[in-house]
Amino acid sequence: LRANSKRSVLAPRSRTISAMANDEETLGSLKKQLAKLFEASLRVTVPTETDVEPLVAACTGNFGDYQCNNAMSLWPRIKGKGTEFRGPPAVGQALMKNIPQSEMIEKCSVAGPGFVNVVISKNWIAKSIQKMLTHGIGEWAPRLSIQRAVVDFSSPNIAKEMHVGHLRSTIIGDTLARMLEFSNVEVLRRNHVGDWGTQFGMLIEFLFEKFPNWEHASETAIGDLQAFYKASKQRFDEDPVFKERAQKAVVKLQGGEPKYRKAWTQICDISRSEFAKVYQRLGVTIEEKGESFYNPYIPGVLEKLSNLGLIEESQGARVIFLEGFNIPLIVVKSDGGYNYASTDLAAIWYRLNEEKAEWIIYVTDVGQSQHFEMVFKAAKRAGWLPADNNSYPRANHVGFGLVLGEDGKRFRTRNTEVVRLVDLLDEAKTRSKAALIERGKDKEWTEDELEQTAEAVGYGAVKYADLKNNRLTNYTFNFDQMLNDKGNTAVYLLYAHARICSIIRKSGKDMEELKKTAEISLDHPDERVLGLHLLQFAENVEEACTNLLPNVLCEYLYNLSENFTKFYSNCPVIGKPEEASRLLLCEATAVVMRQCFHLLGIVPVYKI
Ligand code: ARG
Repeated sequence: LRANSKRSVLAPRSRTISAMANDEETLGSLKKQLAKLFEASLRVTVPTETDVEPLVAACTGNFGDYQCNNAMSLWPRIKGKGTEFRGPPAVGQALMKNIPQSEMIEKCSVAGPGFVNVVISKNWIAKSIQKMLTHGIGEWAPRLSIQRAVVDFSSPNIAKEMHVGHLRSTIIGDTLARMLEFSNVEVLRRNHVGDWGTQFGMLIEFLFEKFPNWEHASETAIGDLQAFYKASKQRFDEDPVFKERAQKAVVKLQGGEPKYRKAWTQICDISRSEFAKVYQRLGVTIEEKGESFYNPYIPGVLEKLSNLGLIEESQGARVIFLEGFNIPLIVVKSDGGYNYASTDLAAIWYRLNEEKAEWIIYVTDVGQSQHFEMVFKAAKRAGWLPADNNSYPRANHVGFGLVLGEDGKRFRTRNTEVVRLVDLLDEAKTRSKAALIERGKDKEWTEDELEQTAEAVGYGAVKYADLKNNRLTNYTFNFDQMLNDKGNTAVYLLYAHARICSIIRKSGKDMEELKKTAEISLDHPDERVLGLHLLQFAENVEEACTNLLPNVLCEYLYNLSENFTKFYSNCPVIGKPEEASRLLLCEATAVVMRQCFHLLGIVPVYKI
């Protein structure tokens, strides 16, 4: 596992203050900037209602680009309190009149019961895109008020299967980490591997028995660790003498006896190298801090909880009763051992108090939501987290649904019960390579180019197929669908990006030069639609990031590609008077697409 060595864990993080922090108009997304204008208007229009937040949303109809919806909900608050207004439409009129003078607004109107519709100035859109092109897309990164986050994701279990659920967690967690990193948050990417627990007694004893020479044997002597797990489990279930030895081995391991520690490390290393292959293919960086890491902290953390009066005795176990849950959280089992919950309590304490994380995000299947809700509740009762879910520090469980096979049941491969993730990813690559060869690319490209494109497309397809759905819904794994070059797939999007790059290449123009000398204008309606959509990148990443919903970004990217296609079919570029401006629009589209790919963990393709 590659450690994320970018910044040391506790180093103070310097916040980059944008050179243009004073320039009001560069602050935040388009929607936020508009909200600021309406906030100013609200303060003047209804000076007594100081707690009213501006309600600004993108328009669905064609009255404008954005609308402010405050008038309707304001009315009942001010009616009968001596207001000069006669009804919500009049409030809307005043809200419109009191908007501070701004370059970004072309025109406003009040519609229906009091909506204030705003048309954004196309010159302002053009200028903002141009600014992004010169200053970089970092301009449009979300601005969060936190400095450090933990994303707990992937987290497979040693000696057990790393299944498609872990693949989902790896893909979703990596994207969330990338979005936070883009927002200038330091992210501790944590692999909470299941490397501790009673199964290790059985595994270690089995290792001693099967491989008396284990200390000298190379790791691979065990071969398939899953088969090894199965065989040792069988032995455990069938032979009471072995079972007893296994139970004693757990005690020795937990007591730190060197021989047992060494055997444990050897078993963990075999799993680790399997996991690493998946991360390497997916280009995912993650740092292992497994369950064993938190083990030494458990007694102290439980003592703190106990001192707060949170822990009670129940049927021989030690538990925390939590309001709203009909079962207690067991923190010490009746045999005196710790469990998954004890580890997670120690981990959340450590992350909040030692690592000073302000946002902790746990990515697992929805089946674990109750576990996390209980851990968070306990942390709130202990005063480690604030009672209110929306203030920082905060913890969120990011749940996801199942991966289904064609038969609508849990995803399995044809003959085996389990899906080896490495095989799955390899198959995606093989299939995308075959498709490229079918297009004759093996004759056009070098072997390296073919390999790299096959990887980018194959792995990108698997990731995108997962991320484009709302994560809570189950989705069907289907190679043919995800590798289709039409429709909402990574293949379609990657090809669209490559086509834009090819338009730019064919023009023979130097983009760096053009950025300095040419100006974007958005006179054709399809240019304006594309331009506005480009600008909306900022509010879409922000929404995807703060609501932990990668599908929002996928949908944005897909629509961007659609808007580009429309623009390109109606607005010829090369050899036209608008060439320079349109090339800059192509470039801006490519830049935004690449940033989306980057955030989704997809490697862009430049030629096809
Ligand atoms: N190892 C667990 C599993 O495979 C996931 C761990 C998630 N993280 C945590 N802090 N509990 O289901």
